[in-house]
Amino acid sequence: MATQRTLSIIKPDATRRNLTGKINAKFEDAGLRIVAQKRIKLTMEQAGKFYEVHAERPFYGELCEFMASEPVVVQVLEGEDAILKNREVMGATNPADAAPGTIRAEFAESVGENSVHGSDAPDTAAEEIAYFFSGLELVG
Ligand code: CMP
Repeated sequence: MATQRTLSIIKPDATRRNLTGKINAKFEDAGLRIVAQKRIKLTMEQAGKFYEVHAERPFYGELCEFMASEPVVVQVLEGEDAILKNREVMGATNPADAAPGTIRAEFAESVGENSVHGSDAPDTAAEEIAYFFSGLELVG
């Protein structure tokens, strides 16, 4: 196992319900360190570019509108095997399939409004971190 960094987003359904602290506690309890974090409001264009890989999916428009609807918290999580560990802490994309105790099982409202995003692989993690953070903002 190696130390990795992964990009996490606390989505509008969670910031709206004031769940940032509870979600961050799940990350920290799992041994993930929040090494960078900021609360921002995405434009439709910024959300669209971030989720460009899903542009052909039927839910793309709805997804972008949701992500631009209210503030999000973007963060970099660091730890041993952080990409996989974060995905375990988040739970399955659809909260109906998410394991008990995971963020999505406890907090997500639907498959679309599912409280958190996490990078799925090392190359996407590097791209997604660079999308939101400059090197100067990553102090470890
Ligand atoms: P995320 O991990 O951010 O990656 C892509 C997002 O698309 C996903 O979480 C969901 O929020 C959203 N998504 C995936 N499948 C659907 C769906 N069937 N309907 C609406 N949104 C979806």
